[in-house]
Amino acid sequence: MSILKIPTAKIFERLLKPARYKGVYGGRGSGKSHFFGELLVETCQAERGTLAVCIREAQRTLAQSSKRLIEDKIASLGLGHGFKLFSDKIETPGDGLIIFRGLQDHTADSIKSLEGFRIAWIDEAQNLSARSLALLRPTIRARGSELWASWNGLQRRLMRVVEARGRRIGWDSIVSDTTDNAVSANNFIQAGYRLFEPETPWAWAHTLYWRKWLH
Ligand SMILES: Nc1ncnc2c1ncn2[C@@H]1O[C@H](COP(=O)(O)OP(=O)(O)OP(=O)(O)O)[C@@H](O)[C@H]1O
Ligand SMILES: [Mg+2]
Repeated sequence: MSILKIPTAKIFERLLKPARYKGVYGGRGSGKSHFFGELLVETCQAERGTLAVCIREAQRTLAQSSKRLIEDKIASLGLGHGFKLFSDKIETPGDGLIIFRGLQDHTADSIKSLEGFRIAWIDEAQNLSARSLALLRPTIRARGSELWASWNGLQRRLMRVVEARGRRIGWDSIVSDTTDNAVSANNFIQAGYRLFEPETPWAWAHTLYWRKWLH
């Protein structure tokens, strides 16, 4: 018998235990995707026949899925012999399966194909719509099933902190900017910021500026 040992950062440790919901949020590059990617591969290796689905809100191609990350994890953990890679799915030990889906394309009927799946991992969950979550939650109901979500939540928390401080000290508005970052731009729009054209732009030529009035 061989034993698979994967070191885990302390902050993620409590997510190793079984739970119906597991969520992580944090800033860019904080290890969220790698943690769940590893946990998924490790779980499929340890529990034969695990059925898992990796979810995005929108997934037009597999390049927009977690497939590549999971394949890299299988390789770096040295587990290539037990997993079979296909163009659109990964077969895991004991007739298990990892598939990749965009929920935007699902209907109340088509989502039923996911019943029986034990793990659903939503990465980039800050983009998940309320509709998609409402479809997914009652569908993932196999015994011991788990819903994992990882999202980029730091920015919105920071926004709220800065806004509260701005209000307290009497600012009229807050202006911020994004460059080549659609997720971040969406965060600003959803938080009530609107596109702003400053008289003297201070960043790159294609930077977008966002403003929110505080009063
Ligand atoms: N367990 C790990 N093993 C190896 N590398 C890791 C691990 N965790 C994080 N890293 C390194 O840190 C980088 C960022 O990690 P990751 O992509 O998981 O961040 P993230 O929190 O998902 O970021 P984003 O919000 O941008 O999606 C990775 O590209 C990788 O180089
Ligand atoms: Mg990530």
